[in-house]
Amino acid sequence: MWRSWKGGWRVSEELLYEGKAKKVFATGEEGVLLHRYKDDATAFDGKKRGRIGGKGRTNATMSAAVFAYLETEGVPTHFVEQVDEESIKTKRLEMLPVEVVVRNVAAGSLAKRIGYEEGTPLKTPIVELYLKNDELGDPLLNRYHFRELGVPDEDLDFCEELGLRVNEVLAPYFDEKGVTLVDFKIEVGRDAEGNLMLADEISPDTCRFWDKETGERLDKDRFRRDMGGVEEAYAEMLRRVTEIRERGAVD
Ligand code: C5P
Repeated sequence: MWRSWKGGWRVSEELLYEGKAKKVFATGEEGVLLHRYKDDATAFDGKKRGRIGGKGRTNATMSAAVFAYLETEGVPTHFVEQVDEESIKTKRLEMLPVEVVVRNVAAGSLAKRIGYEEGTPLKTPIVELYLKNDELGDPLLNRYHFRELGVPDEDLDFCEELGLRVNEVLAPYFDEKGVTLVDFKIEVGRDAEGNLMLADEISPDTCRFWDKETGERLDKDRFRRDMGGVEEAYAEMLRRVTEIRERGAVD
């Protein structure tokens, strides 16, 4: 699989988009894109910049593993296959201008907004819908705002239900790896047939992961808050997600 990337179709790649954390290429296959994740890191709408060695590998490989798992649990995703350590192929989608955040524990902007101490468990998961717009700083909006901007209620219903379903599947998945899924952000897109599905990535860039025992942060907050140990945290999350348990062989 990796050989074909280095050989065959690499020549036909055409850069469609370069963002803060990835490049997106056309692949020559109809309706299929290649996302290559970068080690470049930004925070606070691009005001803080840096580089996290190994981040591209963690984000591509974790996204591949998590999307594949979600598919087995009946969650529709854009994932097609992992191509190399830093790249995945996905379906080509029309993205909704929405960032869906789901939270289990108060942290970050929610802790500030509702006056909770970080780390306070929430009674039930909270879903929030943000407008995906860097210039406006991705504001938190309600349905009236989204209607005004042309995003219909049924698409928002799908976003909320998908967010809660992803949480239902991934909270126990990460718990089993010794990690509390504090909160996460997902994005949603529509394929050529009109089907909505999970898109973007699931990684330490887009989730808060806290070690279940120690509370240690294993995500991008280490970069945002200058906590040190950033590369180690990304490597540790990659290890926990990809670790092959050979219990059968050991027992
Ligand atoms: O900053 P805030 O507390 O609102 O972030 C909630 C969650 O959404 C965090 O896991 C954060 O990593 C993620 N997020 C993101 N992209 C953004 C904003 C938040 O991935 N633009």
